[in-house]
Amino acid sequence: MKSALHCESIRHTYGKGDLSVPVLLGVDLEIHAGDRAILTGPSGSGKTTLLCIAGCLLTPSGGCLKIAGEPVTNPGVNELNRLRREKIGFVFQHAQLLPFLSVRENLEIVGRNAGLSLAECRARIHHLLERLEMADHAGKQAAVLSGGQRQRVAVARALLNRPSVVLADEPTAALGWEIGQVVVELLTRHATEEGAGLLVVSHDMRLLPMFNRKFEMDKGTVKEVS
Ligand SMILES: Nc1ncnc2c1ncn2[C@@H]1O[C@H](COP(=O)(O)OP(=O)(O)OP(=O)(O)O)[C@@H](O)[C@H]1O
Ligand SMILES: [Mg+2]
Repeated sequence: MKSALHCESIRHTYGKGDLSVPVLLGVDLEIHAGDRAILTGPSGSGKTTLLCIAGCLLTPSGGCLKIAGEPVTNPGVNELNRLRREKIGFVFQHAQLLPFLSVRENLEIVGRNAGLSLAECRARIHHLLERLEMADHAGKQAAVLSGGQRQRVAVARALLNRPSVVLADEPTAALGWEIGQVVVELLTRHATEEGAGLLVVSHDMRLLPMFNRKFEMDKGTVKEVS
C-alpha cells in the first residue's frame, strides 16, 4: 500500500535545560493513501505538535518523517516550502484567511503558488466551493464570513493543490454539528477519491464513524485503537 505519511520514532522537546518540556517520546505512525484517520487524546498531550511536525511546520527533535514516500531529512527552507505547497494540505483550528481579500482571492493565491494555471485554479476553486455550498460567497471579503463559512474556505484552500497528505487540527471545533459534518465529509471524500492520507485531530467522538483508522496519544506516543 502507498504511504502518505510515515513517522518513525518522532521525538519532540520544547525549550532547553531546566525549562525543557518533552512532548513526543517516539511516535510511530503510518497513514496510507486513502486512509481516513482520527487522532484523539487529552489536552496538552502533543496532538498539535505532532500535526505541525507532519505538516513540515515544525522540525522534530529527532526521528524520521516521510511525506508521500519522500524522506524529510535536514531539508532546507526551499525544500520545506515545496513540500508544503505541493504535497500537504493543512487546516488550522481557526481558518487563518487573509481578511481583506475575497474568498476567491484567498484561494487563488494558494493555487497559483502551487503552480496551477489560472484556468485550472479557477475551475478547481469553483468545484470545491460548490461542494462546500460556498460558491455564492466567492466574491465576499473573508472578514465578513461567519466562522463556519471561513472554515469551509480553509478546507477548500487545503484541498486546492490535491495534496497527498491532509492534516486538520480540530477543524470542527468552531462549528456547529451539521456544518462540522459537511466539513469532515469533504475531507474524507477527498482522501477516498484522490487517494490522499487524511489525519484529523478532534475531540468530537460523534465523528468516529466517518474514519477507518483511530489513533490515541498515549504518554508521548501514538497507539492505534480499534
Ligand atoms: N511553543 C511551545 N513552547 C513550549 N511548550 C509548548 C509549545 N507549544 C506547545 N507546548 C507544550 O507542549 C505540550 C503539548 O502541546 P500541544 O499543543 O501539542 O497539545 P495538544 O494535544 O494539541 O493540546 P490541545 O488538545 O489542548 O490542543 C503542552 O504541554 C504545551 O504546553
Ligand atoms: Mg492542539
